[in-house]
Amino acid sequence: MKPVEIAKGIYSVGVIDWNIRDFHGYSTEKGTSYNAFLIVDEKVVLIDTVKKGYEDQLLDNISQIIDPKKIDIVISNHTEMDHSGGLPRIMHFIGEQKPLYCSKMGLKNLSQHFKQQWNYHAVENGEDLNIGSRTLTFLETRMLHWPDSMFTYVKEDEILFSSDAFGQHYAGYEMFDDVVGHTIMAQAKKYYANILMPYSPKTLKLLEHVQEIGLKIKMICPDHGVIWRKDPGKIIEAYVKWSQQIPEKKAIVVYDTMWHSTEKMAEAIADGISKEGVSVKPIHIRSSHRSDIMTEVLDAKAVVVGSPTLNNGMFPTVSDTLTYMKGLKPKNKIGAAFGSYGWSGESIKLVKAELEAMKFDIIEPNLRIQYVPDDEGIESCVEFGRKIGQAVNE
Ligand code: FEO
Repeated sequence: MKPVEIAKGIYSVGVIDWNIRDFHGYSTEKGTSYNAFLIVDEKVVLIDTVKKGYEDQLLDNISQIIDPKKIDIVISNHTEMDHSGGLPRIMHFIGEQKPLYCSKMGLKNLSQHFKQQWNYHAVENGEDLNIGSRTLTFLETRMLHWPDSMFTYVKEDEILFSSDAFGQHYAGYEMFDDVVGHTIMAQAKKYYANILMPYSPKTLKLLEHVQEIGLKIKMICPDHGVIWRKDPGKIIEAYVKWSQQIPEKKAIVVYDTMWHSTEKMAEAIADGISKEGVSVKPIHIRSSHRSDIMTEVLDAKAVVVGSPTLNNGMFPTVSDTLTYMKGLKPKNKIGAAFGSYGWSGESIKLVKAELEAMKFDIIEPNLRIQYVPDDEGIESCVEFGRKIGQAVNE
């Protein structure tokens, strides 16, 4: 990707990772980008770097604008390696003692991680930095999504450099919202569900604070995916909605199956839910990535989970999905457990325990069917589904 001037004297200089398909367990079917930004003012400022291995492309991009050695200041909005992995090489190239601005937690994280004696400047929340004709303001955004995370805001241009927030894993030459179009919202939603959902209360609080202080935002530049220049309000509005975790009239039936019996149950339960006028779909775990399942969980009111019993336990893929789900702390859900079994059928109560641990409102009793569901069994699944659908409608 060539550098692009996104505002006068401000450039996007990051790189595209076209081929990444697994980002620490998150499926990135569209690839991603590691965005970095260069501000050329009286001081030359680099905001964030890139993942290790992409430093040459970053330096090449910067060289097309200015000699990288002329960079005066580096800002690290976030320590995670997809943005800081390139720091050692960049700092070495531009001069190890150039100032490196970060949050207080950033200082702790960067120094622990890299064990380098860089010229750190840990900033206070709200601190300003004059770089000539512009003033940069640092806004602490702890736990969005790391303890060190912060935003950098350029007052004069009303541009927010938002680190991971408002990002999407998307690789493409269409680097602005108005060029890529509405389809990007699906990736933004997936990103929220898998990265930011556990921090929804903090996200909401931050968005309220941004509104309270009247921060004018003309453009949002996240560290992944497209830049929101046409309608930054649209992604802010979506974040408000997602962080409130107000579910839609929607259910998902997430299951795995050994010999298709739990699958038959899942489809019959989905039929029953649908009969109550609720939008629903069965999701077979081994045909879907856990990160896509979480995107569906984000706005679902009912999360119905089915598992066969294997060796007196839950089917391993169901366990994987529930472990991942629990870590992302979904809220305001109805839960229900079901499954077919051969001998003992422990999995259903184990699934229920996991749903309870997430504080879901459980539809009782669980539905267990031994061996293959017959007509009567299928009818009980449809009834179970109806009961779930009615609860969604309440
Ligand atoms: Fe894109 Fe949290 O790093």
